Amino acid sequence: MTNAYKIAVLPGDAIGPEIMAQAVRVFDVLQQKRDVSFELITAPFGAHAYFEEGKAFPDSTKAICDEADAILKGPVGLSHEESKKIPVEEQAERGAILPLRARYNTFANFRPITLSKDMAHFSPLKPEIIKDGIDILLIRELVGGLYFGKKDRGVNEEGQRYVHEILEYTEQQIRQVLIVAFEQARKRKKRLHNIHKSNVLMSSVFWNEVLEEVHQDYQDVEVIHLLVDAAATALCLNPGQFDVMVMENMFGDILSDQGGGILGSLGLMPSACIGPEKAYYEPSHGSAPDIAGKNIANPYSMIGSVAMMLEMSFNMEAEAALVWQAMKNVFEEGYSTADLSSNDVQLVSTDEFGDKVIAKLEELL
Ligand code: IPM
Ligand code: MN
Repeated sequence: MTNAYKIAVLPGDAIGPEIMAQAVRVFDVLQQKRDVSFELITAPFGAHAYFEEGKAFPDSTKAICDEADAILKGPVGLSHEESKKIPVEEQAERGAILPLRARYNTFANFRPITLSKDMAHFSPLKPEIIKDGIDILLIRELVGGLYFGKKDRGVNEEGQRYVHEILEYTEQQIRQVLIVAFEQARKRKKRLHNIHKSNVLMSSVFWNEVLEEVHQDYQDVEVIHLLVDAAATALCLNPGQFDVMVMENMFGDILSDQGGGILGSLGLMPSACIGPEKAYYEPSHGSAPDIAGKNIANPYSMIGSVAMMLEMSFNMEAEAALVWQAMKNVFEEGYSTADLSSNDVQLVSTDEFGDKVIAKLEELL
């Protein structure tokens, strides 16, 4: 029987629709080559949704996402200046992304930081540091911590304005993401870097206590503790020491962008946001308004997000691997887009890069 999947497609803002147009082509090829069918339903989400419907995450989009087997989301948001036309609570981050994460409790955010040896020229790191390539799975807790803690602002008795922003976690929230991380570590090199700041933050002391408890069930996995500041340095000096890393929300936001930095671009960072019932997939980067409409954005992070969906939501591991392979081959043949250039690449447009990946994928499937 043909597997039939329903996918909510949220192209997003600025470069979002451009890179999404290339990514969804993967589903067409798969339908032709495999016994599977995909129903794609496109819905507004982000700044354009606010301008069109008065809501960054309209109810109609929520209904489409609720119905879908998985959600594919492009980057959202506008330039700082343009964003000012939108009330703070409806700006894409607060009005769309965080509510999406909360709605489906997507607590485990997978952010692979990978670069093949032949793509090392994109990285600012020296070849002797990159060695055989970079292959790290950063797992970020995504629905707790400072992002979702209580917040308030006011004026104190001395007339000073103040802000409170609370870092909150329950043991259950910590445990569930640690279990995911240990499971991944077990499948990979049985090594888990726990990133924390327990020399200062009580939340990290607590996180580490829960980790010790969870570790009891995963004694075959070696845990290496590393303070988050030291981890930032280690990622630059010796990324090869890392395999699976796990950390709370804010640390993961910052270190995953640094991950993009060591690869050479956030454009090389797809991601998966996994909840108990539903997952959504998105590039880790923003909507790059400065290069929107120029047909120069690389679709790698968006197509990579499709690959992650195939693997994690639809159990299509083999096909996902071929999608990665197709993109890698196109880069290795020396092609890239202007946003992601280095010496010795032949520049092609977003569409042309998509054409090449799709042609390669057709060949591989
Ligand atoms: C990310 C982004 C988001 C975050 C923003 C846009 C809310 O930076 O996915 O890393 O901070 O989580
Ligand atoms: Mn971020």
